[in-house]
Amino acid sequence: MDAIYSASVTAPVNIATLKYWGKRDAGLNLPTNSSISVTLSQNDLRTVTTAAASMTFSEDQVWLNGRQEDINASKRMTTLLREMRALRKQVEDVKQAEGEKNVVPLSGYKLKIVSENNFPTAAGLASSAAGFAAFVQALADLYELPHTADELSVLARQGSGSACRSLFGGYAIWNMGSKADGSDSMASQIAPESHWPDMKAAIMVVSADKKETPSTSGMQLTVQTSDLFKYRVQHVVPQREKDMTQAILDRDFETFAKLTMQDSNNFHACCLDTNPPIFYLNDTSRACIRLVEDLNKIAGKTIAGYTFDAGPNAVVYYLQENEQLVLGALKHALPKDEAWETKPDIQPFNSPDFDQKYLEKVTNGISKLILTGVGPGPQKSSIKLIDKNGDLLM
Ligand code: DP6
Repeated sequence: MDAIYSASVTAPVNIATLKYWGKRDAGLNLPTNSSISVTLSQNDLRTVTTAAASMTFSEDQVWLNGRQEDINASKRMTTLLREMRALRKQVEDVKQAEGEKNVVPLSGYKLKIVSENNFPTAAGLASSAAGFAAFVQALADLYELPHTADELSVLARQGSGSACRSLFGGYAIWNMGSKADGSDSMASQIAPESHWPDMKAAIMVVSADKKETPSTSGMQLTVQTSDLFKYRVQHVVPQREKDMTQAILDRDFETFAKLTMQDSNNFHACCLDTNPPIFYLNDTSRACIRLVEDLNKIAGKTIAGYTFDAGPNAVVYYLQENEQLVLGALKHALPKDEAWETKPDIQPFNSPDFDQKYLEKVTNGISKLILTGVGPGPQKSSIKLIDKNGDLLM
């Protein structure tokens, strides 16, 4: 029987605290500013991907969440496959030059790639970051590429900008770089998850009824039409990048959370300043903002920080030491959520200082809560989505 070569990995979701919004080169996914993110635990949110190569496969094929994708329709995927095959070819050439016998010519074999998320796409959570990070890491493992995570991030970036940050656990920064070919637009780790393991995240999933403007086209429109965005890129982000990096290194939650909220608000202000305006936040999102602002006022300091991506869901960062207060407020607002099954000790917390009108909006508008925290980068996985005969296990 002809051999099937395969590798399986899992990769995490990351949620930016300094947002990537705007490209200076859309083909290469080169950003107009640097960005920072927290990588979330793969126990709760992750993509698993198996990449397999064989002489017997007749074409490249990709399945995402049980559905076959037209790989030739995705320029991002065909580009990545071409570049990664070229890197594998270099590995083969080096091995041969060193006199190694039986070097498997994987670069010439067709591929089957199967990828699945452990969270419903319907939850409205951006899955492209975890997806492309897993795609690149699985191929890098299959091809035995000697590249570092920083180097692989340049590849993942071309799949989806935010994916370059999902190659790292803990706290990552994507440096925008300045070269036209994008070779210096890569991510790196600010600190591993062990540096600040108490960072927790509550994801408040909003029951959205319609699809938003996709981030890829939304950010292009902002670049073309918003003056506020120019100010953001030139005057806001550079200082914030330094301050946020330092807050992470110092484990200074108050500064970290304040900057995170400011940056989310600045990004959404730029969306509103886009012509025509883009609205990602809705009434429920604004009620979540109000709840966190009230909670911080009640606590007398910043114990929670919200951020929103290109959609209405709130991600609230907090520290383990404030779990009772932060989750207590959420449990009061969302007493029926399944998430409490794993947190039976949290006591619902109410206060007359919460604006009850907004609390009610949170109760009525949030469909699901996901409780998670900071976590590691991509991992080798024993889960196989393709068996030893090259058949799909889905
Ligand atoms: C708001 O990485 O999805 O989540 O590069 O076009 O694939 P493409 O965009 P994508 O944009 C993410 C935008 C964001 C902010 C962030 O994650 O930094």
